[in-house]
Amino acid sequence: MSKQAVLKLDNTDLTLPVIVGSEGENAVDMRNLRAKSGIITYDEGYGNTGSCLSKITFIDGEKGILRYRGYPIEQLAEKSTFVETTYLIIYGELPTAAQRKRFSALLSEHASIHERMVYLFEHYPRDAHPMAILGAMCNALGCYYPHLATNDQVSDLENFDEAAATAVSKVRTIAAMSYRMTKGYPIIYPKRTLPYCENFLHMMFSDPYDFYECPPVVARALNLILLLHADHEQNCSTSTVRMVASSGANLIASTAAGICALWGPLHGGANMAVIKMLEAIHAEGDDGSRFIDNAKAGKSRLMGFGHRVYKNYDPRAKIIGRACEELLASLGSKDPLLDIARRLEQAVLQDPYFLERKLYPNVDFYSGIMMRAIGIPLSMFTVMFAIGRMPGWVANWHEVASDSKGRIYRPRQIYMGATVRDYVPMDQRG
Ligand code: CMC
Repeated sequence: MSKQAVLKLDNTDLTLPVIVGSEGENAVDMRNLRAKSGIITYDEGYGNTGSCLSKITFIDGEKGILRYRGYPIEQLAEKSTFVETTYLIIYGELPTAAQRKRFSALLSEHASIHERMVYLFEHYPRDAHPMAILGAMCNALGCYYPHLATNDQVSDLENFDEAAATAVSKVRTIAAMSYRMTKGYPIIYPKRTLPYCENFLHMMFSDPYDFYECPPVVARALNLILLLHADHEQNCSTSTVRMVASSGANLIASTAAGICALWGPLHGGANMAVIKMLEAIHAEGDDGSRFIDNAKAGKSRLMGFGHRVYKNYDPRAKIIGRACEELLASLGSKDPLLDIARRLEQAVLQDPYFLERKLYPNVDFYSGIMMRAIGIPLSMFTVMFAIGRMPGWVANWHEVASDSKGRIYRPRQIYMGATVRDYVPMDQRG
């Protein structure tokens, strides 16, 4: 017999079904609560709310487990690439050799952007933040590729393969071009023959007269960074994508909304904040205790620590921390920020404040050091997160758009404002 929950309200017992996920997670099905009782649930920040049924990513935050489509993140990090993982996340299965080849070809075909879009870069201020440009330009794709942004769900789903490849491939091109533009460097076009990550680094670091030769360890490191960010179930930006998609909005518009949500410092913007913090510790020559004390006093957050879901080590942080050391060793370079980060981590992991609250390093704690080693400038860190997260946004858009029984996402609220009152003419106001 399926499980049920009983909710006692005044003198009435309400029986509610319990949904059990494929990994055994239980959820009380509240969908008919208001219709049955006139009562709603309150869950600010949705910390206790399952907003959807999804088959994409599984996280067990207590055990520090992350799996894309059932595959452990550790195995994908070791054996897969960003493009293969993107296919897995979007289409649900690892590709066969033929599917992988077709998918790579599709990404190459859609790497460039409409030439008139290139002129748009000219009109942004030179000091515009790359995330502002990225959000605006990715949304503008809907103007230049209107057949991918019809808001007719049948048509948008029919064109899904092209829209997905467009979003995944062009976000990288736009990102690199926005960097070149802010630097005043000539824009470098994508090269068909280059794999995804090498192509990005080419567009970032080549010059018309000087081709950037990408060391294999650097390409591997970038693959890893992007792969580790590729999806993370119902985080702030992905929930935003699903929210926008639920209104019937197309993939281009929905994923552009994800970029805006990602920008904030509590989400994707944390990777920049971590490096700024480590640089400040380095400049001050102290051991980071000022930041720890401020965090404990509630004056600020220790960036790169804590997570809504993980109450154990973020498995991505473990992988990226190790990879950081390997990359620096392979490149024969040193980064004082890595030593500072390791010392800060040790201090935090022994501190009762952080232990009691189960605050461990998250993915953003080490990703910035790795990006520095690759040569990615600080202002681009959150942009890199956006490139990495695009497959997850695309897959989540598809889950919403293809659910024929799906409803528009529309939470309720508990109104706490003024009760009804009469309009007061201007000359009688306070
Ligand atoms: N430093 C100091 N205290 C913290 C931190 C932190 N980084 N994170 C949480 N806390 C404390 C918080 O003050 C609260 O303490 P108390 O119970 O005494 O009030 C307790 O821990 C629970 O915090 P919360 O705000 O309820 O946790 P949340 O689930 O709402 O927030 C978070 C999650 C990631 C926004 C938060 O941990 C944070 O602000 N971390 C720093 C920013 C960061 O690194 N973000 C990247 C997240 S991983 C990448 C991504 O997916 O975006």
